[in-house]
Amino acid sequence: MSVSVTVADGLNDRIRAAADRAVADVAVDRLPGFMRDIDEVALLAMAWALRGGGLFRDGSHTESEIAAATRTADRHRWILRRWLGALSKAGMLWGDGSTFTRLRTVGRRELREAARGLAGSGDGLGYPASMIAFLQRSFSHLPALLRDDIGVQALLFADGEADTADGAYRENSVNRYVNAAAAEAARWAAERRPAGAPVRVLEVGAGVGGTTTDVLGALADVPVDYVFTDVSTYFLDLGRERFGGRAGTRFALLDANAAPLGGGVVDPGTRDLVVAANVLHNAHSIDACLRGVRDLLAPGGLLLCVDTCRELPQILASMQFLMSPREGRPGPGAHDFRAGTDRVFLSRTEWEAALRSAGLTPVASAPGPDHPLDAVSVTLFAAQRQV
Ligand SMILES: C[S@@+](CC[C@H](N)C(=O)[O-])C[C@H]1O[C@@H](n2cnc3c(N)ncnc32)[C@H](O)[C@@H]1O
Repeated sequence: MSVSVTVADGLNDRIRAAADRAVADVAVDRLPGFMRDIDEVALLAMAWALRGGGLFRDGSHTESEIAAATRTADRHRWILRRWLGALSKAGMLWGDGSTFTRLRTVGRRELREAARGLAGSGDGLGYPASMIAFLQRSFSHLPALLRDDIGVQALLFADGEADTADGAYRENSVNRYVNAAAAEAARWAAERRPAGAPVRVLEVGAGVGGTTTDVLGALADVPVDYVFTDVSTYFLDLGRERFGGRAGTRFALLDANAAPLGGGVVDPGTRDLVVAANVLHNAHSIDACLRGVRDLLAPGGLLLCVDTCRELPQILASMQFLMSPREGRPGPGAHDFRAGTDRVFLSRTEWEAALRSAGLTPVASAPGPDHPLDAVSVTLFAAQRQV
């Protein structure tokens, strides 16, 4: 029999207020229009990239013909299919389900000018110039990205530095907002620990530590047992450099797809918080992964999950390339309801259903669906383990 321990009264208001304070200097009302502007350039870039190999002069083409003419790598075929869908939805391509025709003509000059127009457009919106520069680099390299001649990592970590990733995950207003919400939820959890007992945190896919910075900052005056994990040693080294000086931090490799989740790293039923920002969509099975998270949480513990709830063209023409599996390996959603759909991101409703079915009760989220930042579609979900 399950006993409800949901004691999250007030948490929703508290995290939304803290998140709003973190972006008080930003003209958030302008963000939806700014996102639309970037998406329009992303769509132009896709249309430009698909004109390679003499396609679309006249007649129609199947997806296979387009893949052959653009020399799309097999592992990126799913991205090509998403582009065809996005362009059709935007009215820039016409398809009957099996063939495509009438692709909007976009020349290199039009794309260059549209991309240039984005420079400076994020001013006052808390959107770093490094992020715009990264998107411009991605858009102009789309043919090579499709062919797998270059990796998006090389564009993201230009000169081997994490500056752009910092811009993407730490410094822009959207992440400032959700990370402040996560930090407030962490404070809420700390207030519920016995005096002097450490707040026990596992962070999954911690990466450049955008969320870590805020969550650890919110826990500055309490002891912590903070396990910073990632699937890549590059980020563990970066994490050690950035956070290793704080007492109670540990660093470990952890794959969100491992079963059992966290084996050998943390004990089941011990975590007050599991933090997972912009990573859980990578799960082969979101259900198995969330059940793994639930098992690691102490009763009443919170999962703080940040994720994108809508597929924006600007992501499809940049970060999405990070999500293509190596040849022969399963991709995101390969073993759950997303299988065969080429979808990576879950909608808000799908997240809430997946959390519930894993035994995690959604108790708070930010932004709400009526907030201007919802246009960016990055959302923090706080979900609580029941007894
Ligand atoms: C988009 S980044 C987000 C980084 C960070 N959480 C943030 O929001 O600032 C995704 C991170 O998840 C990690 N990652 C990807 N697949 C993973 C997996 N299966 N298990 C654990 N981490 C994974 C990547 O190495 C990367 O650091």
